[in-house]
Amino acid sequence: MAGKEELSYSEAIAAAGDAFHRFPLIKIQGVPLMCHIVHNWDSIWAFRPDPSDLLIATYPKAGTTWTQEIVDLLLNNGDAEVARRAPTSFRIPFLEIHSPPPVPSGLSLLKDMDPPRVIKTHLPFKLVPEGFWKNKCKAIYVARNAKDNLVSYYHFDRMNLTQPEPGPWDGYIHKFMNGELAWGSWYDHVKGYWEEREKRNILYIFYEDMKENPQREVERIMRYLDLSLADDVISRIVELTSFKTMKENPMANYSFITKPVFDQSISPFMRKGVVGDWTNHFSPAQTQLFDEDYKRKMKDADIPFRTDI
Ligand code: A3P
Repeated sequence: MAGKEELSYSEAIAAAGDAFHRFPLIKIQGVPLMCHIVHNWDSIWAFRPDPSDLLIATYPKAGTTWTQEIVDLLLNNGDAEVARRAPTSFRIPFLEIHSPPPVPSGLSLLKDMDPPRVIKTHLPFKLVPEGFWKNKCKAIYVARNAKDNLVSYYHFDRMNLTQPEPGPWDGYIHKFMNGELAWGSWYDHVKGYWEEREKRNILYIFYEDMKENPQREVERIMRYLDLSLADDVISRIVELTSFKTMKENPMANYSFITKPVFDQSISPFMRKGVVGDWTNHFSPAQTQLFDEDYKRKMKDADIPFRTDI
C-alpha cells in the first residue's frame, strides 16, 4: 500500500506537469496563504472534524513532521512497520493544502479516512475551522524559537518550488519580521495558540524541549493522548524519531514529494535538526535588529522560548 501511494503521489506531481511554479500568496484576514489554499478557502473553513480527531498545529518549520511521526508511533504502540505504511502526508493529512490536480488535497485525503484521524495544519488559531473547538478536539501545538524557525524556513523556501522566492537572506529576515511569508506572522501564530491553550486544552510544546529531552516530551504527548506505553516502547519511539533515523526514512523525509515541488538537492527537508543554527546565519547587526523588534512584538506574551539549549 505504502509503495503504491508513494508512487501515486510522485505520479500525480508528474501528471500536474508545468502547473507547478512558485505560487503567489493571497491574504485571508490579513494572513498570506498560497493561492490554491485561498481559492478553496470555503471548503477548508467548512471542514467539520470528528470529536475524536487530533490536530497538530505549527508555524511552518517548527517541528511538524517530527511531531507527526511521534504521534503516529504513539498511536500505534511504537510499531515501526505500521508507521512506515505510507508517507507522512497520507498518514496525517495536511488540512488546508491544495495543489494543482491530480495531486490530492488534504481535504480529499481526509474524506477517505475514518475518524479518529490525525490532522496537520499551519493555520494560525483564528483561521482554524471552528468545528475543532466546538467538538473539543485535542490539539498539539509545536513552537520553535523565532530565529531557528526563520533559518529553517529560509532554506525550505529555497527548495520548495511552490512557495515565493526567498530572495536574499537579509531581505528574508525582514519578510519574516513583517509577517509576509506564507502562513503569516510567526509572532501572531505562536501567541494565538498560547493565549488559547488553557481554554481549548491545547498541548503547547517546544522544539527545543524535544531536542533537550525527547523522552520527556514523548511521554508528555503520550499522557495528553491518554495513552500508557511501556518504557521500552517509549525508548523505541525516541530512537525511531531521532533526526538521523527520520532523515533515512523514506516515509518521513519527504522524498515522496519530488521535483518540481521539492528540490532536495538545493536543501534537504531533513536539513540539520538542531537548536542554535541561527548563529551561523545572523550577523551581529541582524541579531540586534531582530532582537529589538522581537521584544516589541512579544512584550505582551510570556512564552518561554529558548534560542540555545
Ligand atoms: P532544520 O531546517 O532546522 O533542519 P517541519 O516539519 O515543521 O517542516 O520542520 C522541519 C524542521 O524540523 C527542519 O529543521 C528539520 O530538519 C527538523 N526536523 C525534522 N525531523 C526532526 C527530528 N526528528 N529531530 C530534530 N529535528 C527534526
